[in-house]
Amino acid sequence: MGLEPEVISDNEEMRSWSRNQRRNGETIALVPTMGFLHQGHLSLIEEAKKHAGVVVVSIYVNPGQFAPGEDLSRYPSDFEGDLSKLREVECVNVVFHPRNLYETTTKVMEPKEAGEDALEGRKKAVSCLEEDGKKGHQTWIRVEKLEKNLCGRSRPVFFRGVATVVAKLFNIVEPDFAVFGKKDYQQWRLICRMVRDLNFPINIIGSELVRDEDGLAMSSRNVHLSPEQREKALSISRSLLKAKVDVQRGQTSATELRNAIIKSISQAGGRIDYAEVVEQENLEAVEEVCGPVVICIAAWFGNVRLIDNLEINS
Ligand code: PAF
Repeated sequence: MGLEPEVISDNEEMRSWSRNQRRNGETIALVPTMGFLHQGHLSLIEEAKKHAGVVVVSIYVNPGQFAPGEDLSRYPSDFEGDLSKLREVECVNVVFHPRNLYETTTKVMEPKEAGEDALEGRKKAVSCLEEDGKKGHQTWIRVEKLEKNLCGRSRPVFFRGVATVVAKLFNIVEPDFAVFGKKDYQQWRLICRMVRDLNFPINIIGSELVRDEDGLAMSSRNVHLSPEQREKALSISRSLLKAKVDVQRGQTSATELRNAIIKSISQAGGRIDYAEVVEQENLEAVEEVCGPVVICIAAWFGNVRLIDNLEINS
């Protein structure tokens, strides 16, 4: 019989559970997710199990990282399906499933600077993991440089929402380890930086990106792609692989690499948000590939925005 994960929704209960485990000498790994779990998430959980005695998976669609007009309302969710997948992996001790105590649609985050009040008459900011359910957040974590480029350009509130909710999860679950997918490369780097800057006593593990057999990076958003769009979207992973081969053959110009990627994704019918060659740790754009870089891409196919990346350790 598989391990039946305990579902905890209450913050205090979650914290006491973790403290009890620690008193018993256990180490705790947290895998933060927004649910609708797929093989990519399950690989994060397997990674977590390598590092710690007990595993907590959080499932929480964080309104704080969506701006008005982004896809919060159509973010897929299937809590029962998630639970049965987690049962099957047989190593998840707790599913931490916090609920918002009020309708998230009544208050939606303003895509402006942290701390600014939402304008009257418009939907207002939602807090994440809100306790009293009424007041929203005054405190936001900004990782100032890392949040700005790549996805930060088109999603101005995204990373403050991510950093804030992850810090809250860390404070509630108090894990020794937390696992993040390198598919969300910028998110992973930003969390590493936040942990370093704010002295969280947590080891951040970056887990390798998982692809479907056809090469598409796994994402909860892939369900929104039609079969034709999915076929076209393969231009993303193909152009990344080609760029890697080009570098191995001596191409060092970031502009040439970007141009080739943009051309092949556009020809396939994708709309490029960005295609960048950046340094791996600080995500600053490079002109020449002469050390470890990561090529990061975000592109739209229909109304689905996909991201992907490939590290090149030349
Ligand atoms: O990667 C995600 O699913 C989310 O951004 C995270 C880390 C769970 C925070 O809401």
